[in-house]
Amino acid sequence: MKKITEAQSGKVEWQSPSNIAIVKYWGKHGNQMPANPSLSFTLSTSYSQTAMEFDVDPSRKAFEMNFAFEGEAAPKFGERIRQYFERNSADFPYLNNLKLNISSKNSFPHSAGIASSASAMSALAMCITSIESRLFGGFAEKSMFRMRASHLARLASGSAARSVYGGLVAWGESESIADSSDYYAVPVNDNLHDTFRSFHDTILIVDASEKKVSSTAGHKLMNNHPYAEMRYFMARQHMEDLGGIMESGDVEKFGEILENEAMSLHGLMMTSKPSYMLMRPNTIRIIELIKEVREAEKFPWYFTLDAGPNVHLMYPHEVESQARSYINDLLAPHTQNGLVLYDQVGSGPRKITE
Ligand code: DP6
Repeated sequence: MKKITEAQSGKVEWQSPSNIAIVKYWGKHGNQMPANPSLSFTLSTSYSQTAMEFDVDPSRKAFEMNFAFEGEAAPKFGERIRQYFERNSADFPYLNNLKLNISSKNSFPHSAGIASSASAMSALAMCITSIESRLFGGFAEKSMFRMRASHLARLASGSAARSVYGGLVAWGESESIADSSDYYAVPVNDNLHDTFRSFHDTILIVDASEKKVSSTAGHKLMNNHPYAEMRYFMARQHMEDLGGIMESGDVEKFGEILENEAMSLHGLMMTSKPSYMLMRPNTIRIIELIKEVREAEKFPWYFTLDAGPNVHLMYPHEVESQARSYINDLLAPHTQNGLVLYDQVGSGPRKITE
């Protein structure tokens, strides 16, 4: 990275989606290095949109920034972003010359209780990478832009590293994925079966209140967890098994791994010290109903969970209209105020202006 020699200013803006993990990232070490590889679908309608006005001046001596969320000052999140820049100052040698005015908003209701760090932090990373591209004359190859963005997103929030690409994305070194890395995510769409390119994820909001355990605290529960080694082994195994499954379009085998990952994640939380029980009674009710419909009607839908009570229901595009009617009739009554968010695999971040 060259030195800043002259003042420059401008504005960049990106929309970046959330993602849903199939193989979960749970446990980390060092500076945001994952304990196991993870795999996710990038979503489409659940995104963050972030605008960054930048002003770089070699005579400036200290980093300055402002952050607003949905038009209002948001000091808590602003502080997290400031700490991110300062903690990773080696990655930003121009930091002291930089002034940023950041404003962000989400497409999904703030009160939905769904994790927004993947979308928020990937949008942030896309903006920073655009600014770097402007300041230092672009990246030699287009792929380098995304690699840098994924690396910067990872340093802010591990799962955000995956949101930098559309479709199916892997993060963390895995024997079955060429060029996979712990430092940044890679897209794995080349041989992806069509069924999975348009897969649906409907988010059933069981409890919209703030998360009981932050993900950083959650990852820490894996340090000295008695089942940690077996968990990491299983995650690597699932990555390998999914290689063939995602190519052949075997929805049933995909669903088995998807659900096993969700239950393993919650099992790990329940057996950690301290222990967390993040499912609510309606989480369990909804899971039971999903299984009942699947068994009784041979209906191809499967669930997963993040580190919270809300259920992600996944199914192929072909069964969408039938799925919607089951959701309305059977599942929505068990959500908080009928809150259901319909989403689908998407194509990744979108540039708004530059
Ligand atoms: C359960 O990416 O939110 O959603 O790196 O501490 O920001 P930090 O953690 P975060 O963890 C996500 C955990 C998960 C599984 C996943 O998305 O892979």
